Amino acid sequence: MKEQKLTTANYKGTRDFFPEDMRLRNYLFSVMKQVAVSYGYEEYDGPMIESLDLYRAKTGEEIVGKQIYNFIDKGGREVAIRPEMTPTVARMVASKLRDLPRPIRWFSIPNLWRYEQPGHGRLREHWQLNVDMFGVNHFRAELEIFSLACDILFAFGASRNSFRVKVSHRSLLDEFFKSGLKLKPEQGQEVSKILDKKNKITGDEYVALVSKTIPEDATAVSKIDQFLAATVENIQTIPGLTGETIQKINDLFSGLKDLGLSDIVDFDPSVVRGFDYYTGFIFEIFDTSPKNKRSLYGGGRYDNLIGLFSNEELSGIGFGLGDVTLQNFLETHGLLPNLSNANTVYIPLLDDTSFFAAQTLAKQFRAASVAVDLSLQSQKMGKQLSYAEKKGYRWILILGEEETKNQTVTLKDMVHRSQEELKWDDALQKVRTELS
Ligand code: HAM
Repeated sequence: MKEQKLTTANYKGTRDFFPEDMRLRNYLFSVMKQVAVSYGYEEYDGPMIESLDLYRAKTGEEIVGKQIYNFIDKGGREVAIRPEMTPTVARMVASKLRDLPRPIRWFSIPNLWRYEQPGHGRLREHWQLNVDMFGVNHFRAELEIFSLACDILFAFGASRNSFRVKVSHRSLLDEFFKSGLKLKPEQGQEVSKILDKKNKITGDEYVALVSKTIPEDATAVSKIDQFLAATVENIQTIPGLTGETIQKINDLFSGLKDLGLSDIVDFDPSVVRGFDYYTGFIFEIFDTSPKNKRSLYGGGRYDNLIGLFSNEELSGIGFGLGDVTLQNFLETHGLLPNLSNANTVYIPLLDDTSFFAAQTLAKQFRAASVAVDLSLQSQKMGKQLSYAEKKGYRWILILGEEETKNQTVTLKDMVHRSQEELKWDDALQKVRTELS
């Protein structure tokens, strides 16, 4: 009987990162890191597996009830593969609360796992830049976080009109539901969920769901519509809002104006965010292209997470930016760079006697931080050039017997289709000055 072969397919909702994919991933991460570091944020990381209780506390029903990858380990503990990073960063900050100079500004790019139905912008494993600040409960922290988030997209070459930041405040919903609509807490939670999925269902379905949740108020749908249409200018017309919440929203938006970001940031009461830990401003960033409906970023302020671990509370604010939605955004706006191997130099081997001279030459280039791919087997020139072409190399260093004797090398430029004989040092100099 023929042996059954294993499949080469990867697990549903995950990606294999072949070298060309890895080049792109490294590029995305390096731009994200550069911007985070430029704002004084320091990189951290945590374990991929945490206790399930960490997420039960405040991550929210959607993830904990349906999407989490959890299992019992060999010691009988209930554990989960991290679906998000916020509980981990809160745990880590709480564990050193007294030692850390404040404000604490940290970032990380973890891979996260959620059992989702894979689709455009949604996978089961994704990487997510997390940027969080702890210890500043003032809208200046929001301004910094928004500014940093926008700067990341600008650093990728995005234009000001290619994305929108949509902001709301948790108290807005809570106060409107409780005092404006006079809902019971369970009804409020239900309506939040309906609003969260409003864009994914039909108008009729939406009306039916709201009416079913609030059967006692026939005007609920129109009141909610009015709430959703509110602007910063007429926010005081929303029933049930406290003066404090209105003030916070006004302060933030006037700060955004002074910072020069008000043309990108919208007040949008329909932003809900499905996590239980948010207590203050909540926001999402969307591509303006209708091709990408999923949010690029999601974040907000959370006042009560550190208190899960410690007697002291410390307010945090931050966001997650997903690599899948970011890549879709960059593709849509033609912002993906052509990342090649052009900076690697290739040394073909024409005869076995040149092997050790080629090693010496390669060593000299590598010592000057130029990557070298050195052939280990002598082969016909045509074959080796075709390999170099497939790999996308620009520079070829040809070293025959004659060149070795003279300490020279033929430097071939595959892009300009030219070549010249140079001293080793001069060849190195030339390549270095032209590295991209
Ligand atoms: P989130 O909204 O669940 O927030 O995720 C943030 C971003 O990660 C989303 O806007 C999206 O780009 C990406 N993302 C989430 N799930 C997936 C998925 N299944 N496939 C692809 N991309 C995905 C959080 O996770 C919060 N913990 C963020 C945060 C940090 N809040 C405060 N600090």
